[in-house]
Amino acid sequence: GPDIPVSAVQADLGRLQSIATANGGNRAHGRPGYLASVNWVKSKLDAAGFTTRVQSFTSSGATGYNLIADWPGGDLNNVVMAGGHLDSVSAGPGINDNGTGSAGLLEVALAVRSSGFQPTKHLRFAWWGAEELGLVGSTYYVNSLSTTDRSRIDAYLNFDMIGSPNPGYFVYSASGQPSGSLALQQTLQGYFGSIGVPTELTSVGGRSDHAAFARAGIPVGGTFTGAEGIKTSAQAQKWGGSAGVAFDRCYHRSCDTSSNVNATALDRNTDAIAHAVWTLAA
Ligand code: PHE
Ligand code: ZN
Ligand code: CA
Ligand code: ZN
Ligand code: ZN
Repeated sequence: GPDIPVSAVQADLGRLQSIATANGGNRAHGRPGYLASVNWVKSKLDAAGFTTRVQSFTSSGATGYNLIADWPGGDLNNVVMAGGHLDSVSAGPGINDNGTGSAGLLEVALAVRSSGFQPTKHLRFAWWGAEELGLVGSTYYVNSLSTTDRSRIDAYLNFDMIGSPNPGYFVYSASGQPSGSLALQQTLQGYFGSIGVPTELTSVGGRSDHAAFARAGIPVGGTFTGAEGIKTSAQAQKWGGSAGVAFDRCYHRSCDTSSNVNATALDRNTDAIAHAVWTLAA
């Protein structure tokens, strides 16, 4: 896969921060900053030649939106999907959670166009609404698919928090959840191995948007740099950073701003997304 410039991902995070600042400080479900985030990501994808669709749903009395972007071509009977949630909590702008996954996915999608990649499989990217209300948007999407359309999805890769300020390098464990995929786990581990970065497996269970795909029997995988968990001294020795401190001290807080991001973790994880998408869809 291509080397995605982290400067482009950081510029996207600056834009998501500006959207939050202009809309009461957050990008939460049912708030204007959420729809503004959807419209901005959509405009970038449309300009690059993606076929985009906004899927609406209702949750807690407000309209929510999923953004689905298909790259034209490839075998529609073999779909590779990658996604993450675009909504924040109402407490803050949600830049690490999950501006990072959203922006990393966006830059990988834009690289499909700029690189001239012609995947054998069909590629689909997704930005989910209302994850913070209980995985609402991704669950709505999976439930909206016919049995046949579900069976056409070969893989779903999830990216939720990939630039934590005191980062760990976690890969979703194939055995840690239903429908965990050893092939997806190993593809992601393989990327980090190739750049000499040690990883740990994590059992993310039902904590993010892959859960609805897993329940539907679709193979799932993903990466994560940590949330409220505390980095151990062994982890600080292999990854650097601060032992005894949370991976993200600003998790779900107003301080989850554009300064709450580790650029190296964001760079490595974005390149891992690109590597996995290129490998799995080729
Ligand atoms: N889904 C959690 C949130 O948005 C974060 C998380 C991601 C936790 C992945 C565990 C694994 O708050
Ligand atoms: Zn690669
Ligand atoms: Ca890079
Ligand atoms: Zn969250
Ligand atoms: Zn999240």
